[in-house]
Amino acid sequence: MIKLLPKQENAVWYLRDNVTNEILYGGAAGGGKSAFGCMWLIEMCQQYPGTRWLMGRSKLKTLKETTLNTFFDVAAKLGVTGQYTYNDKDSAIYFHNGSEIILKDLFLYPSDKNFDSLGSLEITGAFIDECNQIVYKAWQIVKSRIRYKLNEFGLIPKLLGSCNPAKNWTYSKFYHPFKKKELPGYRRFIQALPTDNPHLPDSYLESLRQLDENSKQRLYYGNWEYDDDPAALIDFRKIQDIYTNSFVVGGSKFITADIARFGRDKTVIGVWDGFRLVKIVEYGKNSVTEAAERIKNLADFYMIPMSDVIVDEDGVGGGVVDILGCNGFVNNSKPLDNPETKEPENYMNLKSQMYFALAKLINDSGLYVECEDGSIRDIITQELEQVKQHNMDKDGKKQVLPKDVVKELLGRSPDYSDMIMMRMWFEYRFKFEFSVA
Ligand SMILES: Nc1ncnc2c1ncn2[C@@H]1O[C@H](COP(=O)(O)OP(=O)(O)OP(=O)(O)O)[C@@H](O)[C@H]1O
Ligand SMILES: [Mg+2]
Repeated sequence: MIKLLPKQENAVWYLRDNVTNEILYGGAAGGGKSAFGCMWLIEMCQQYPGTRWLMGRSKLKTLKETTLNTFFDVAAKLGVTGQYTYNDKDSAIYFHNGSEIILKDLFLYPSDKNFDSLGSLEITGAFIDECNQIVYKAWQIVKSRIRYKLNEFGLIPKLLGSCNPAKNWTYSKFYHPFKKKELPGYRRFIQALPTDNPHLPDSYLESLRQLDENSKQRLYYGNWEYDDDPAALIDFRKIQDIYTNSFVVGGSKFITADIARFGRDKTVIGVWDGFRLVKIVEYGKNSVTEAAERIKNLADFYMIPMSDVIVDEDGVGGGVVDILGCNGFVNNSKPLDNPETKEPENYMNLKSQMYFALAKLINDSGLYVECEDGSIRDIITQELEQVKQHNMDKDGKKQVLPKDVVKELLGRSPDYSDMIMMRMWFEYRFKFEFSVA
């Protein structure tokens, strides 16, 4: 048998009421968040025969390696291992009373940015472990799928998430409003702390206390203000602002484009009015001539000369530059001189220099991205969160995280942020200075 911890009892209260739809059980490590989510799913499956529940995480592989093991562990402690069968191929746990738990990958794959793969799913409720690793849209889509057999059992939709402190939507939608006592009635937040859980070994608490300051604050004290990765170049709040900075004034028009290449599946083109990104166009894999044609059409429509168009020249993009006769952007080329002082700047390469300039622009509230599409906003936000300084402890030339590291972190290429970053080139390039005699 398991006796619930006081915080877990607290969460149960919200999971049983008929007002709360979304509960975030978040904070420090080891507070019993994952175990609690598993206990809840087991109880629901037992109590409501024939219902269907989702157990989700950013990556299915990690879900199986971590949360699922917690599930087996909890099931053993509860003495219910005889009540279900786990089918690895289906990624599902089938209870003998007809209830089931489906294990789901909730990662944002650009090939399915609207989560259409969840479209036909009908569930009774859901538990998402480490939900700070998924995008807000995924959270919302899962919530929208909760309707299966609710009426039959007199239930309302319940979505439970667990996470460690993170400066993303879990902070802005749950933690921050909770602090300000402004959480809407259908949302609840429960702060988890390792000290809530007497079942943790003392040695584990000790090892949490030995972490670096940042991790210790987050994982031991459950401090939500400490997620600031010192290497991050852009303030996360300022990234949120780019979609609402409509006061940014327009100016000269430009086009920047990142062309799909081998192993990547998107061409992303941006049309600019000063620092207002007024249009984002994306295409699946296309030929060099097609990409060039699309850029040419946009340039004609918006009346933008080729000298104000720049295309990523690495790889396939080189062909587009040749066809259009526009500017080419070579990531690894030499940094440009400071446009004001005409002095060289100390960067590893052009790309790093432009990303630092972009970070400054965003931190100064100088960028506006006009985009109504929530999934594209999520993608852009995620990519900008990865704009970080590489090897910041080392002296020498400043550099952003290399692309292969970013790809590893995002699970895709940062096509959108690269397209946005290239806009800074026009601030650095040689400018004509007319002098009237
Ligand atoms: N009510 C309980 N009774 C007994 N043991 C519990 C209880 N709740 C949690 N535990 C145990 O405490 C340990 C930590 O719990 P769990 O893994 O759920 O924490 P967590 O908050 O998800 O941690 P992390 O932040 O590392 O993901 C596990 O071994 C779990 O089985
Ligand atoms: Mg956990």
